[in-house]
Amino acid sequence: MERFGQDTTFRIGGDASRVAFIDSLPTLKHEFSRVKENGEPFFVLGGGSNLLVLDSGFAGAVFKMGIRGTEIIHEDSSSVVVKVGAGEVWDEFVAWTVEREFWGIENLSCIPGTVGAAPVQNIGAYGVEAKDVIESVEVFNAKTGEVSKMTHDECSFGYRDSFFKRQGNKHFVVISVAFKLTKIPQPNVGYKDVASFFTEREIKNPGIIDIRSAIVVIRSAKFPNLNKEGTAGSFWKNPVVSNSEYERLVTLYPGLPAFPTSPGYVKVPLAWILDNVCGLKGYTQDGVRLFEKQPLVLVAQFNARAEDVVGLAKKVELAVFSKTQIQIEREVEYVG
Ligand code: EPU
Repeated sequence: MERFGQDTTFRIGGDASRVAFIDSLPTLKHEFSRVKENGEPFFVLGGGSNLLVLDSGFAGAVFKMGIRGTEIIHEDSSSVVVKVGAGEVWDEFVAWTVEREFWGIENLSCIPGTVGAAPVQNIGAYGVEAKDVIESVEVFNAKTGEVSKMTHDECSFGYRDSFFKRQGNKHFVVISVAFKLTKIPQPNVGYKDVASFFTEREIKNPGIIDIRSAIVVIRSAKFPNLNKEGTAGSFWKNPVVSNSEYERLVTLYPGLPAFPTSPGYVKVPLAWILDNVCGLKGYTQDGVRLFEKQPLVLVAQFNARAEDVVGLAKKVELAVFSKTQIQIEREVEYVG
């Protein structure tokens, strides 16, 4: 058995039968032919920042994605296309783009995890989602052994969702991602926390470095310190409800914010519901709690068990349902 759960950002959960480090396409192909022959279950691991490994661990092979490389594959006077290996650390790539003043992902600074996870989860923060800049994704099809390129549309991105997350598509392994970024300054500072950061400091035209610095400050005030406690960021997605459902909820709970998504639907902040409707902010049980500065984030002491996280999560899901009739959906993936 080899360490698995303890190497995730939650630092919780059992081991895997084996863990293989994948640093090249030939290694990936070799490992997949091995699991195919043995009928061994597999799991592709990026940074382990969105996972809860169960206490029983994983009876199968974990492939730690380590394919690297950052290469400009197209450049003109106004834009660049950068191809990045799935195993690159996301925030190192963001820093690389900020240094060169390539605009597009500065608002996604400090998100833990790897580049390969960005399209799978369609990571997002402060008014930007990975899908806004992903041009294409290179994938390895573990069933056929083929490598192909998927266009932006083929990835069928949604809110924290994509083709890669859906049932039946788990054999498509992301090996690199091509991002289209712009050289023309495009500050995206409309998100409440970002807008007030600059207003308070009277900064009128923030540059790309200012935006990255602002995000670093905002995030460090809202998220737990990973060196001290375990977490996987937002534990659930924000619920998307119809306009009529929202009308029902806002009558019950005046002040409930709403953000328009597709026509006829709004996204409501679950943090607000957990805080103002359920009164669960800071609630603690068995060493696991709803973070006091952002209750959508579950944090666990290093000695907590996956069972404790699952137990608290169920309790929260029931509390939200009984107050709102909304069945909330997890963002964190359970493995094991
Ligand atoms: N709020 C409260 N009480 C709190 C905290 C927040 O009522 O203690 C309310 C406020 O109304 C606030 C709203 O909740 O305006 C939204 O909070 P926040 O801006 O912190 O964002 P979020 O919706 O809780 C999402 C993403 C985060 C991302 C932030 C910033 C999801 C599931 N989460 O959180 O992404 O960093 O926006 O853009 O969409 C992640 O996916 O793991 C993640 C951390």
